[in-house]
Amino acid sequence: MAWTKSDWRAKPRVQMPDYLDAGALGAVEARLGQYPPLVFAGEARTLRSELAAAGRGEAFLLQGGDCAESFAEFSADTIRDTFKVMLQMAMVLTFGAKVPVVKVGRMAGQFAKPRSAPTEVKDGVELPSYRGDIINELDFTEAARIPNPAKMLEAYTQAAATLNLLRAFSKGGFADAHKVHQWTLGFVEGERAAQYRDMAGRIQDTLDFMTAAGVTGNNDELTTVDFYTSHEALLLEYEEALCRQDSLTGNWLAGSGHMIWIGDRTRQPDGAHVEFCRGVLNPIGLKCGPTTTEEDLKVLIDTLNPENEMGRLTLIARFGAGKVGDHLPRLIKTVQEMGANVVWTCDAMHGNTIKSSTGYKTRPFDSVLREVQEFFAIHRAEGTVPGGVHFEMTGQDVTECTGGVRAVTDEDLSDRYHTACDPRLNASQSLELAFLVADELSGLRAERQRAAS
Ligand code: PEP
Ligand code: CO
Repeated sequence: MAWTKSDWRAKPRVQMPDYLDAGALGAVEARLGQYPPLVFAGEARTLRSELAAAGRGEAFLLQGGDCAESFAEFSADTIRDTFKVMLQMAMVLTFGAKVPVVKVGRMAGQFAKPRSAPTEVKDGVELPSYRGDIINELDFTEAARIPNPAKMLEAYTQAAATLNLLRAFSKGGFADAHKVHQWTLGFVEGERAAQYRDMAGRIQDTLDFMTAAGVTGNNDELTTVDFYTSHEALLLEYEEALCRQDSLTGNWLAGSGHMIWIGDRTRQPDGAHVEFCRGVLNPIGLKCGPTTTEEDLKVLIDTLNPENEMGRLTLIARFGAGKVGDHLPRLIKTVQEMGANVVWTCDAMHGNTIKSSTGYKTRPFDSVLREVQEFFAIHRAEGTVPGGVHFEMTGQDVTECTGGVRAVTDEDLSDRYHTACDPRLNASQSLELAFLVADELSGLRAERQRAAS
């Protein structure tokens, strides 16, 4: 079906700002349109094929990072630490589950946020909601909440610098498996840290053995990683401005990141966000929440993946602990009836947000853990493939989600609550989850091997 990068403009849009100054907006769009894309079409295609492997159960997707990247928290250390935790988690999964891990950051573009209400009221004052640093500012003043198109340029610059550092870390020696011990973050202690050190020791022994046995030579698989970027394609002016035609195939690429996804609030089958995403060659994620109907899912799958190619479409299930059983089976059934090729992944964050007794937006670690377990149990029962997990997490030692081995309490939340949007898992909680997921995956593998023999 014919498509152009601006067709979304004729469709109903939700969750997008109304810019007051059309001239200023147009000037920013024109500038961005001249800037280089952040990613290359070949990379997006490679990611598609790696996701296809995850969809078949031959790899596993680990997607994680900030809820919202912020201009204020932008620093090399923040990027490095989130990257480190993801490497640690990926190592735990690779080692425990014996599958390659596809690493995708919610990074280098995750700036725009859908909100549950268009305005926010504080002490009787009502202002437009904060929508992410690419749109307006968190400060509770009238001026800060006005959408400012120039912020797109700053977001682009931050995304480019972030991606540059991620590429340097990925290929420049930092991610070398021989350094598995050095990725540990100083403040991660307890049972899981010991378990990680033990695993790292075993990996080190294996690598030493390989070297002693003469298995040397060019080992890119061990000394570098592929690390991809992703974000919610919410601000379509930004996405359109970075959209580029691939010179090799003539297809269109969302040049803002390797993978983009459609949020739970913007997945209207005839809406602007679906219209934009259907036309680009990148792998597409689609959030599926409790309100996703079977009818909508059918239309969305047909629209977003008409060629039924595995790796093109990742369904990101986010129902909430205790609710997965009410929704995942009916959506799996829809997918099966259609014979659709999709990657199933579990976002164990967005269905589990609550307000703490101390007034903070938080997520109990136990609920996150339970949703992951329910996701695996249902796929096991249905005989379908759990292809990945999706977390909001950071390498910083924050106190935003309660629970975990180091037992963050409601009272602790105020200590280091830094997120501009949703609460993130800290490094220790992330590592704990990785071990749990590795257990689930190795259990599944053992079951398959028993069935095959
Ligand atoms: C998000 O991923 O930050 C988000 C807003 O998720 P959802 O669309 O699933 O609510
Ligand atoms: Co979020």
